[in-house]
Amino acid sequence: MKKDFLTLLDLTRDELNALLKRASELKAGKDSSSCPLIGKSIGLLFNKTSTRTRISFQTGIYQLGAQAIYINTNDLQLGRGETVEDTAKVLSRYLHGIVIRTYEHSTIEKLAANSTIPIVNGLTDLHHPCQALADILTVSEKKGRLQGVRMAYIGDGNNVANSLIEAALLTGIDLVLACPQGYEPDGRIYERAIAGGAKVKILTDPSGAARDADILYTDVWISMGQEKEVERKKKKFEGFQINSRLMSLAKPDAIVMHCLPAHRGEEITDEVLDSRQSVVIDQAENRLHTQKALLEMLVK
Ligand code: CP
Ligand code: NVA
Repeated sequence: MKKDFLTLLDLTRDELNALLKRASELKAGKDSSSCPLIGKSIGLLFNKTSTRTRISFQTGIYQLGAQAIYINTNDLQLGRGETVEDTAKVLSRYLHGIVIRTYEHSTIEKLAANSTIPIVNGLTDLHHPCQALADILTVSEKKGRLQGVRMAYIGDGNNVANSLIEAALLTGIDLVLACPQGYEPDGRIYERAIAGGAKVKILTDPSGAARDADILYTDVWISMGQEKEVERKKKKFEGFQINSRLMSLAKPDAIVMHCLPAHRGEEITDEVLDSRQSVVIDQAENRLHTQKALLEMLVK
């Protein structure tokens, strides 16, 4: 049976641990000459822009011995009204997997339900699970453990925040989010994590979240597709910037994470993003290793 990766919870804890171990091996150069996916083709179907996701998948797929076929979904017949269902059925006859970045999460659910090949979520409005994989590896590398590490996510309760909540459920990371009222993460994702025993709190006070944190994490205030909301949102997010004042509340050895791209001077200052405590470039690198491990696991 094919396995999809639409949200982080498509992995069990054991599968996640195996994936992290494999990603670390790949990062260390183990099996660097083996090509487990030789002769395969993976579609990269994007209708939002991307630097990290696109290039890390494209490079990783090549390193695994397969070819990546990148296409903007507007250039498919999908862009002229062909259904997601027909697209899924036809592409399943050519490809061995699809990574898709799009708006509505229901689109990738429909794609997955109608495909016989694995579908990987390269970001939707609701989830960014590939980012969460790299984030988890980065936390374990930098902090030497996951269980009980205190992460403060300060900013918009968006796709990245939703996937971090699922990461907290799978790993035991102790997650405190500070979001302006009305910009909390998805209620169902939060409720499910709490019911599953995750340690997740949602506050409206950035200082309360940052105090004694091991990690300060943020993301843009305006996600792709929300460009019309710029002025209204910026006002709501005053006080939610990660800057030296918030950093001074965290533990002295706290690290700073951001999925990137950053809007410097908005959700985070240059000073913090470029500081020695910032691990954002290592975090971006880990996209490559974790996604290679993911594709090895999913693509047959
Ligand atoms: N973090 C992330 O997904 O970056 P891109 O939008 O550049 O792919
Ligand atoms: N929340 C951001 C993440 C970009 C990687 C967005 O959806 O635009």
